[in-house]
Amino acid sequence: MKNFKLIIVLVIVVSIASCGNKRTPQLQYMPDMYESIPYDADAENGLNGKPVNSKPVAGSIPRGGHPAYDFADSNQGYEKAKMSLKNPLENSEKNLTNGKAMYTIYCTSCHGKKGDGNGYLSQAEKFLGIPSYKDRDITEGSIYHVLMHGKNLMGSHSSQLTYKERWQIVQYVEVLRADLLK
Ligand code: HEC
Repeated sequence: MKNFKLIIVLVIVVSIASCGNKRTPQLQYMPDMYESIPYDADAENGLNGKPVNSKPVAGSIPRGGHPAYDFADSNQGYEKAKMSLKNPLENSEKNLTNGKAMYTIYCTSCHGKKGDGNGYLSQAEKFLGIPSYKDRDITEGSIYHVLMHGKNLMGSHSSQLTYKERWQIVQYVEVLRADLLK
């Protein structure tokens, strides 16, 4: 009997609770289960005070990308690149062919076809002091460094050439230099 009264009361409570305006939310138990707590993933204080979309870890390399160039534009940076920086590309005919094509476009005007410093701009005396590669004690690292940062009258070529093209040119300059030294 006691239970029966309890059931009657419950039925009344439930039916009253369900008779409210259908357009407004009814009683919700554990509302977190229905509505997620929104947060701004890009905000500095995204979740619990920590950014959610964190910045990449220092030194991360994007897929298909390459490491950032972090040899400073200084004499020390030059020397460091000269000693330690190595060409990541394999020594292949394909790389060399493209290196030659890029060299012809970007370098011959000053350095000449053979790299002896007798380019058009040199002959026209528009630029002075263009060296022959054979007279410079250069390495793959130092050539790349000069392409990135330039050197005195020679400007940087970092924006005209891609990472791969620069290294292909380096390969070709080394071949020219070896030929000049023969
Ligand atoms: C506008 C003319 C000009 C162009 C274009 C140019 N250079 Fe130079 N380059 C110079 C001059 C001038 C120097 C001498 C810089 C110095 O030592 O004062 C030089 C020096 C160099 C050196 C020797 C640097 C050293 O460490 O002693 C290399 C290697 C070189 N250039 C490679 C290239 C390559 C590769 C290209 C094409 C992507 C190129 N240069 C385009 C003018 C030019």
